[in-house]
Amino acid sequence: MFLENCEILENKVVAGHNYLMRVKGDKTVQAAKAGQFYMLQCKNGIYFLRRPISLHYADKENNILEFYYEIKGGGTKDLASMKAGELINIQGPLGTGFTTELSGKELLVVGGGMGMAPMKLLIEFLAKNNKVTYIAGGRNKVAMEIMSNFDLNGIEHYITTDDGSVGIHGNVIVKMEELMKDKKFDMVFTCGPQKMMEAVAKTAKKFDTKCEISLEARMACGVKACVGCSIKTKFGMKKVCHDGPVFDSETIVD
Ligand code: FES
Repeated sequence: MFLENCEILENKVVAGHNYLMRVKGDKTVQAAKAGQFYMLQCKNGIYFLRRPISLHYADKENNILEFYYEIKGGGTKDLASMKAGELINIQGPLGTGFTTELSGKELLVVGGGMGMAPMKLLIEFLAKNNKVTYIAGGRNKVAMEIMSNFDLNGIEHYITTDDGSVGIHGNVIVKMEELMKDKKFDMVFTCGPQKMMEAVAKTAKKFDTKCEISLEARMACGVKACVGCSIKTKFGMKKVCHDGPVFDSETIVD
């Protein structure tokens, strides 16, 4: 875990309240793994607590980190006000990410809404040595605009929207069921709204497939120093910022 002042290269609206920030880092980039997160300091330290933002992408050749985030309150609104050329202090990478040391496997990645954020780096990692299928879902066309920031060349992928404004009209579970009936996947990875992840985990279990889920939790310190992010699991209390945010779904969902 590193602390670094990074230059903001770009901080733009993707669609609606969703933003994409690109920063130039060094050690914070080289150590990054898919599914981890960073604590970003708000402008001028106005908000005492940093904001936990999941990693969207790490370009290790050019030392660039990408964060896809949504304005949810004062802190993220403050982040969105920062401009290219300004410095932002970031702490990370933090937490336990997805399992990526796999090869020769059939893998299914399911992202929903802002839960698409960690999937860009995850897909790139996994696709090096495995066959990856990606299902991305959201409420509408606005939620899916981030897909233009993915490089899905050679990746079998599907888009679903609740209102049918783009892609398949419906949710990710319908497509997931359809794919899993036809093909045996070795593992499923998911991030998205709680209810969606529960449904993804249950579907994976139905087809006897291991599933990893990335949880969201309120965080204060981000480094296991408080109890702000504790959750109950089958193996006792765990801290999302340290033991997660990625967990084996079997430890969380019945
Ligand atoms: Fe403080 Fe996890 S946010 S322990």
